[in-house]
Amino acid sequence: MIVAIDGPAASGKGTLGKRVAAHYGLPHLDTGLLYRAVARDALTQGVDLDDAEAAAKVASALDVATLGDPALRTVGAGESASRVARHPAVRTVLLAYQRSFAYGPEGAVLDGRDIGTVICPDADVKLFVSASPEVRALRRFLELTGRGVAVSEASVLADIRARDERDSTRGAAPLVRAPDAALLDTTNLDIDAAFRAAIDLIEAAMSRAGRAG
Ligand code: CDP
Ligand code: CDP
Repeated sequence: MIVAIDGPAASGKGTLGKRVAAHYGLPHLDTGLLYRAVARDALTQGVDLDDAEAAAKVASALDVATLGDPALRTVGAGESASRVARHPAVRTVLLAYQRSFAYGPEGAVLDGRDIGTVICPDADVKLFVSASPEVRALRRFLELTGRGVAVSEASVLADIRARDERDSTRGAAPLVRAPDAALLDTTNLDIDAAFRAAIDLIEAAMSRAGRAG
């Protein structure tokens, strides 16, 4: 079973992805970490994030064993990630790894921006997770301050709005809901309620597929 979860910044797709994967015993890939890591490596090597060719070279040399690096979770890393993520050449390099992860023996849960549209267009289940920008900013603000990072809620909201705009308007694999993705608006849902809603949507999609097959 392949579950594709897409949505804007801090919509809760990573938390849902992790919990859904644990529930079904599937491997989970947070694909945002790939773009964050490419941007980190580019900056370390002095590569201009706007140089598509150089950034794609960095992506080809990415070591996925470094995706657990806590430095990838900062606001700056997210902003840099969305700059390298605009380049089709970078996305092409990262596509192969994501596909091989998804199409492993058991299936997988992947979350990102283009899983249901580009990476796994034939996923068994597609969810598009959303929430109002203000609620998403508050969540990310609480997450960051909880980790001891000094930020203002206004700056987190500004980052989220800027990233949503860049991710939705780019030419290559923009953030858009796949026509066959179920919408999960978590504006008024805590994590447990969002998880239960996600499982209900997944079970409904699987039983529809079972009836059709
Ligand atoms: O967790 P959050 O939603 O804030 O960010 P993320 O999922 O780690 O993604 C960071 C950036 O990577 C996004 O703003 C996108 O520009 C890019 N990204 C992408 O283009 N495609 C994906 N499948 C995942 C992330
Ligand atoms: O992966 P994405 O950027 O979409 O979001 P996340 O990292 O899963 O969630 C961002 C923050 O919001 C985390 O601290 C979650 O615990 C929190 N969250 C929440 O409070 N309520 C939800 N329904 C979903 C996430």
